[in-house]
Amino acid sequence: MSIIGQGMDRTDGFLKVTGGATYSAEHAISGLTHAVMVLSTIPSGKITAIDTAEASAMPGVITVMTHLNAPRLPKQEKPAPGAPAGAKLSLLQDDIVHYNGQPISVVVADTLERAKDAASKLQVRYAASPAVLDFRKAKRNVRKPPSQPERPTDTSRGNLAGGWSRAAQHLDVVYTTPVENHNPIEPHATIAVWDGDRLTLHDSTQYLGGVRKTAAKTFGMAPEKVRVRCPFVGGGFGCKGNTWSHVMLAAMAAKAAARPVKLVVERQQMFGPVGARPMTEQHVKLGAARDGTLTALAHDTISHTAFLDDFVEPCTSVSRSLYAAESVRTTQRLATLNLGVPTYMRAPGEASGSFALESALDELAYQLKMDPVQLRLQNYAENDPEKNMPYSSKSLRECYRVAAERFGWARRTPEPRSMRAGNTLVGWGMATATYPTNRQKSKAWAAIHPDGTAVVRSGTHDLGTGTYTVMTQIAADTLGIPANKVRFELGDTGMPEAPVSGGSMTVASVGPAVHAAATAARDKLVAIAVADRRSPLSGAAAADVTANDGWLSLRSAPERRESMAALVARNGGKAVEADSESAPGDEKKQYSMHAFGAVFVEVHVDPDLGVVRVPRVVGAYGVGKLMNQKTGHSQLMGGVVWGLGMGLMEKTEIDLRTGRALNANLADYHVPVNADIGEIDVSVVEENDPHVNPLGAKGIGEIGIVGVAAALANAVYHATGKRIRDLPITVDKLV
Ligand code: MOS
Repeated sequence: MSIIGQGMDRTDGFLKVTGGATYSAEHAISGLTHAVMVLSTIPSGKITAIDTAEASAMPGVITVMTHLNAPRLPKQEKPAPGAPAGAKLSLLQDDIVHYNGQPISVVVADTLERAKDAASKLQVRYAASPAVLDFRKAKRNVRKPPSQPERPTDTSRGNLAGGWSRAAQHLDVVYTTPVENHNPIEPHATIAVWDGDRLTLHDSTQYLGGVRKTAAKTFGMAPEKVRVRCPFVGGGFGCKGNTWSHVMLAAMAAKAAARPVKLVVERQQMFGPVGARPMTEQHVKLGAARDGTLTALAHDTISHTAFLDDFVEPCTSVSRSLYAAESVRTTQRLATLNLGVPTYMRAPGEASGSFALESALDELAYQLKMDPVQLRLQNYAENDPEKNMPYSSKSLRECYRVAAERFGWARRTPEPRSMRAGNTLVGWGMATATYPTNRQKSKAWAAIHPDGTAVVRSGTHDLGTGTYTVMTQIAADTLGIPANKVRFELGDTGMPEAPVSGGSMTVASVGPAVHAAATAARDKLVAIAVADRRSPLSGAAAADVTANDGWLSLRSAPERRESMAALVARNGGKAVEADSESAPGDEKKQYSMHAFGAVFVEVHVDPDLGVVRVPRVVGAYGVGKLMNQKTGHSQLMGGVVWGLGMGLMEKTEIDLRTGRALNANLADYHVPVNADIGEIDVSVVEENDPHVNPLGAKGIGEIGIVGVAAALANAVYHATGKRIRDLPITVDKLV
């Protein structure tokens, strides 16, 4: 039985619980100094003066870098190629302030305390200019962003006006979602070390290659001279997909200080210069026939962006293809604010967009007096209606069935306020989840050693998701070597190149490369065996040789076998190595590829206080082959927890006078804790997809959050009769 799919324990679990896993800020480097970023305190304007005299004279202070003395960098017209969102960086090259929280100085001292103390002594004067901070005002000047390749800004199909006028039921409503900030428990952190003209960056990142390319471009140096290391990441969720200003500032400071520099982004600084999920306003119109058939679906959205650079939250992506509506129109517009540049946050677009679409479906179901699951089945898309292509696989019907059954949906009484537990209002709601299946080119390397162990490498990342473990499983299965004798290594640009760990695509991209490299190493060893007169396999056909449990043997005569260790040892004692690369073909020209799921939520609402509790969530997902029962379920559950945070708690409060986040800490910016989470029942339906990639795995990093906020809002409506169209669903909106 293959080890792939089994719930193998995390191979890095022991290191993590014993503190042996070294995170980016924890590398012991001799002569290390400490940098502190100083951020702007106005949302728009110019720096007219920075007095650094007092700070510079303080004990232990090595350098105070501002726009007045920072090294001049090659001018960056365009973002570094390959940096996912390619945000423009704030690298102290001018005096302009685009938002409150923009880096304006870096103070380096021999200790962190001295650096912080000195940073607090900077005297900064500004000439403020009017700032745009109110979304309602910014909306008056919406812009249409340019289309991206294969991602048009606007879409339409069918005759919307006709579908709308023919509809028996109409829904025309607006949903809004707030700014959210990523809050991985490990904040961004960088250690920069120069050795002559070579730069090493220990950086907490989802994309080693992006950091390398950004550094090479920023400093005008060859990429080969930049080494980036990141063996462990304490959570990313999208904010570490980009390379933000602090990474380059650490390198600039290390150069100025002529010492290694450590720069840790403080929790408060996580709210501004390192991205956020933008706020959205989403106008949804649904028209339906009496039987629930959607005749018209319009989803017109505005998300906020920054003056410094653009980011589009693609929140119409779900509406474009989830249902077989007769006519569809989607538009995306931008409203520009004096805030930090927004970025990808877990299921960017799908998470925010599905809140609107899946809430709207529920509202329509009530208008039609129809079961919400039935309404979705009535509009089930057998093929991708947007691309006009078959799905590579789609198990959504099975997901609805499995989740509804495990939840007990049949026992629901649809009338709002009709279900109670004592005095408490009980609500049951559901929503659909979907996320596209992505894959990019990746490389890997494998070696079988004379002691019978194997090492496999790829320059990918483990965001806490289980990459170490799953790649070990794939390598062990392919090599035919027990998993406890296989070591998988990642997190270094010195290793074969892998893509960004974003878009739920690490397993789908790196997995096939690991499989290919392991296959190549095993095939090399087989070739050596059949050509070796001293081997019991001598003269056999290579195709007849199978690898299992550290042995090569013949399928036709299993007693003819030899241990891999003995073979490699006899082969001059040198490891048998192989490189490989794996890339998508043109399967996306033939198939639309998505993971799907269904999520059901129970809420208990206190009728007097409006407090919402979530005793249970049931989700069922069709995600192709699940590579590890344990880490996979854990990741899907983590996505659901994120959805609960999005639905009930998360909101960055922007001060409309100053443009500063008012709740820039984990006491005031609420994320779910253990006490907030009840039972989460996640199942993965059997799904065999031969098209997505050689492993048949669709990616599970993001689909878990999708739909949860809508299912919550739908459950809250069922419990209370109040439709909340503005996230998060807090008590003030319910009492
Ligand atoms: Mo994800 S938001 O692509 O890290």
